[in-house]
Order: sequence, then C-alpha cells, then structure tokens
Amino acid sequence: MMGGPLYITDVSPRDGLQNQQIAVSTDAKLQLIRLLAAAGVQSIEATSFVSPKAVPQMADAADLVPRVSAALPELRASVLVPNLKGLERAVAAGAQEIAVVLSATETMNRRNINMGLDQATEVSEQTLIEARRLGLRTRAYVAVAFDCPFEGPTPLDAVLQAAQRMHAAGAGEIVIADTIGAASPGQVKQRLAALLQVVPSEHLGVHFHDTRGMGVANAWAALEAGVRRFDASVGGIGGCPFAPGAAGNVATEDLVLMAGQSGFSTGIDLFDLLDAIDFAEQQLQRSLGGRAITWLRRQREMHTQASHG
Ligand code: COA
Ligand code: ZN
Repeated sequence: MMGGPLYITDVSPRDGLQNQQIAVSTDAKLQLIRLLAAAGVQSIEATSFVSPKAVPQMADAADLVPRVSAALPELRASVLVPNLKGLERAVAAGAQEIAVVLSATETMNRRNINMGLDQATEVSEQTLIEARRLGLRTRAYVAVAFDCPFEGPTPLDAVLQAAQRMHAAGAGEIVIADTIGAASPGQVKQRLAALLQVVPSEHLGVHFHDTRGMGVANAWAALEAGVRRFDASVGGIGGCPFAPGAAGNVATEDLVLMAGQSGFSTGIDLFDLLDAIDFAEQQLQRSLGGRAITWLRRQREMHTQASHG
C-alpha cells in the first residue's frame, strides 16, 4: 500500500505565465499566488529573473518577489535564474530559493539561454554553488530529459550526466523535466530507475507537460518509481517559448486528485484550488483546467447546494 506525503511545487506563475499572449499585471500575479497558498500549496515558482528581452512576461520579477515575501512569509517561493546575473537580481529582490535550468542537449541550451551544453553546465554549477554560499535553497531543472524539439530523443546518458553534475554541485532538488510533453509512462519508469541510481529520491523531482495527454499517467509512473516531488501548474497552463510544440504542464488539480484518491496527502484543497483556476481564467480570458475540471466544478456545485439546502 503506497501513501504518505507528496510534495507539489506549483509553477503556474512562472511556467504558466511566461508564454501568455495577454499581459498579466504584477497585482494579478500576486493574487494568483495568494489563492494558491490559500488552497494549501506550500511551494510555488513565482517568477524568473531572465532577460526581459527574452521573456517580457517576467520583466516584473523584481517588483513581484518582495511583495510575495511580505504577503506570504511562510511560503516557499522560488525563482528561476539562468545565470549569475539572474541570481544577483534574485538575491537583491530578497528571493530565498532559486532554480537553474540546464537542458540535456546542446541545441536546447543554445535556443533557451544562448550557451552550449558545456557552458550551460558550468554556469548552472557556479550559480548553484554561489546560491548555496549565500544560504539559499536550490533547485536544478534538467530540461528536455526525454525528447528535444531540435535533436529528437535525448540520450539517457546525457540526462544522467546533467543530473549528476547538478547533484554534485549541491542542488537541493533535481527536477527532471519533460519540457515538450513527449514522455510515456514506460519510459518515465525506466529513466527514473536509472536516475535514482545517481540522485537519492529525496532530491529528485519531476516536471511533466501534457502535450500528448500522458501527464497524469507519467506522474503515476514517477510515483511508482519512488519520486515524491512534483511540479504542476494550476489549470494546466504552461509552456516554454523556446521549445516549439510544448503544451501546458500537468494540472495541479489533476495531480492533487490522483494523489488523494490513491492515499497520498498533498495538503491542498481542491475546491480552494478551483478559486485559483477561476481567477486565472478571468485574467487570461479563456477556459482553463486539466482533465478533471468539469467533474471538479460539478462536485463544487453539489457541495455548495448541499451546504445551503
Ligand atoms: N536577467 C536580466 N538581464 C540579463 C540576465 C538576467 N538573468 N542575464 C543577462 N542579462 C542581460 C545582460 O546584462 C545584457 O544586458 P545589456 O545588453 O543591457 O548589456 C544582456 O542581457 C545580454 O547579456 P548576455 O550575457 O550576452 O546574455 P544573452 O543575450 O546571451 O542571453 C540569457 C542569455 C540567459 C540572459 C537569455 O537567453 C535569457 O534570459 N534566457 C531565458 C530563457 C527562459 O526564461 N526560458 C524559459 C524558462 S526555461
Ligand atoms: Zn515546463
């Protein structure tokens, strides 16, 4: 019988908003983060300190981070940084947790952060080491860990190598990312078994996109492999502007539902999470939600009727 805690990092304010056509205000980002925290989400990736020319949607990071810290001092709020300049900006804004992003292929690194694989590995290591010296918590993404939009299937050795280097540099969490949502459960099981030989499970996380509808199945495969740290995005929003073909992340609500029904605890309330989805829908002016959204809203409706009836 499986069970126990499952740790979810909601990445919607960063992964979810970095590629949106509609500009979302700093106030609205803060409100989304407040609603997620109110639903019981304990770890949120709030924004990124990247070039505003590369990702204009995240240009307000230095304004947002101090407001999040002031409003929600207990929250684990992390920020993505691609280099030491990003770390410096994050620290100046008061960030206490950062995530570096290393892709497992040459071309994805060039497209995403304008460095080759070797340089990206070194810069990620330097950034992690400096962040730890400053007393920050750290995460390290290993992106395109299954397929690369430019190079096709990613060799497992490249993923293991990247994960090992990030682990050796002291990353608190190494997050294996299916950036374009190409993985399948069998492959997830296989790759995670190999990864668990180089990174202990308490330091290993996964980040799935749902492009081919296999996000939840992949998450289940990861759970069975022994992983307990999951990224997800409320309403299933998300995608990388530099990885063509990427759809949204696996939806936080779907993951919370799957976990709860399978005996795992996340600390997250599904009806409260719906408030965050409703809010994101208003902001982005379109329908959002993972695979369970219609059923979940119906449950809320029945619950509301019952408590007023
Ligand atoms: N934040 C803000 N500005 C930054 C920065 C950062 N983290 N890193 C570099 N810059 C600035 C430099 O100061 C320089 O500014 P200037 O032109 O005013 O002098 C300019 O960007 C170019 O610097 P350079 O080091 O040559 O960067 P680059 O042009 O090679 O771009 C990145 C590299 C990493 C900054 C850029 O590719 C990037 O921001 N990528 C992020 C991609 C992303 O967020 N992907 C989605 C999430 S995985
Ligand atoms: Zn992603």
